[in-house]
Amino acid sequence: MQSAMAAGKLSFTTDLAAGVAHGDVLFIAVGTPPLPTGESDTRYVEAVARGIGQHLDGRYRVIVNKSTVPIGSGDWVRGLILEALLERDTPPVSRFADFSVVSNPEFLREGSAVYDTFNPDRIVLGGNDLQALELMKSLYEPIVSRQFAADPSLPSVPVVTTDLASAEMIKYAANAFLATKISFINEVANICDRVGADVSQVAQGIGLDSRIGPKFLQAGIGWGGSCFPKDVSALVHTAADYGYDAVLLKAAVATNQSQRLRALDLLQQSLKILKGKTIGILGLTFKPHTDDLRDAPAFDIIDQLLRLGAKVKAYDPLYVDHCPEDLPLSVQRCSSPAQLAAGCDALVLATDWPEFQTLDYSALATTMHNPLLVDGRNSLDPAAITQAGLAYIGIGRGVQPAVMVTQLHAAQRLTAKAA
Ligand SMILES: NC(=O)c1ccc[n+]([C@@H]2O[C@H](COP(=O)([O-])OP(=O)(O)OC[C@H]3O[C@@H](n4cnc5c(N)ncnc54)[C@H](O)[C@@H]3O)[C@@H](O)[C@H]2O)c1
Repeated sequence: MQSAMAAGKLSFTTDLAAGVAHGDVLFIAVGTPPLPTGESDTRYVEAVARGIGQHLDGRYRVIVNKSTVPIGSGDWVRGLILEALLERDTPPVSRFADFSVVSNPEFLREGSAVYDTFNPDRIVLGGNDLQALELMKSLYEPIVSRQFAADPSLPSVPVVTTDLASAEMIKYAANAFLATKISFINEVANICDRVGADVSQVAQGIGLDSRIGPKFLQAGIGWGGSCFPKDVSALVHTAADYGYDAVLLKAAVATNQSQRLRALDLLQQSLKILKGKTIGILGLTFKPHTDDLRDAPAFDIIDQLLRLGAKVKAYDPLYVDHCPEDLPLSVQRCSSPAQLAAGCDALVLATDWPEFQTLDYSALATTMHNPLLVDGRNSLDPAAITQAGLAYIGIGRGVQPAVMVTQLHAAQRLTAKAA
């Protein structure tokens, strides 16, 4: 239905002047990647803002910051547009300067972008020009009234209107909260490992508390991707710029960084020396349903394994036909889980792709040199994996299943010898 309604209404251009001439509302949605310092690199936003300023024609425009931009960027973009207007040799500037800047942060999840666009939890509009905010509300009206929603009977989507800085902060605060929630449960998982508790059960027990909620309580090897790392770092950096030490957020980042290496600790606990051992990495992308490898935990694990002298093989369902650019050349790329498992001393599940749920683990186990699986996403059923003949180690799920399977193998070997 959506594609039928959009038919003939969507066009693409690389001509900025044509784009500016076309729209009453102009969205800036360019990348804001992290700089090595942790700040956002806003040069692409700057280029577009200046470009818009060069082409404004006096008709009223709303310029929307959809990119995740540092707090204060709304005013900065406004200033850039005015500067670009001043540089034009078409005075008076006031004739062309009829525009407003609105912050409209984006909350969609990679991998379900279209669904999330039509089924948002809320729409945030930041600005101080009522005319601009009204125009934005009318633009979003079909989504707000659930015309494209999976469940049209739901109440209308809440629209939160704020000042510019608050809207910009909402985006950072939302991502920082979610990232911190994952780091929190990962920390709990690490304590679970030590005291013999199972973090999956703990997460279920706390997640049913409506004040906590069940989402983002899956322990594992931590968050990655293009948004959480850069947005949390940018907020820490902004806080520092204003003389505030964001201790909690820094701890969330540090916990996440060390969590990536948790898989390595677990491998070392089981295999002891990793030099010369063959480790298969199941999944490379930072999460399933996306080809995004930006800041994916699998790459840190691979780097450390190589540093320790392990031989590394890798399989990702989205990178069967072409090799990710950043994958070290010494990593053997595999075109199937079977090719990956053959000869391995351990498998590390780094991305919870649904297809990994239904692999024939019994068949994989028989071709492995040592049947061990480290489930870096706690996404598999330990009992089923153990049943399939692999030692299973999750993150914060206790060591019992792995110990049990080791004992099982020892018993099997004894029985075989006796026979
Ligand atoms: N990816 C997400 O899930 C997500 C979610 C919410 C918010 N965001 C935010 O949205 C923004 C874009 O993220 P992304 O993941 O799509 O980034 P991206 O790097 O994948 O895409 C950015 C695009 O902008 C284009 N671009 C750069 N300069 C341009 C210019 N001057 N004119 C026209 N196009 C230009 C690039 O070629 C690229 O195609 C970022 O600020 C990000 O934080 C992303």
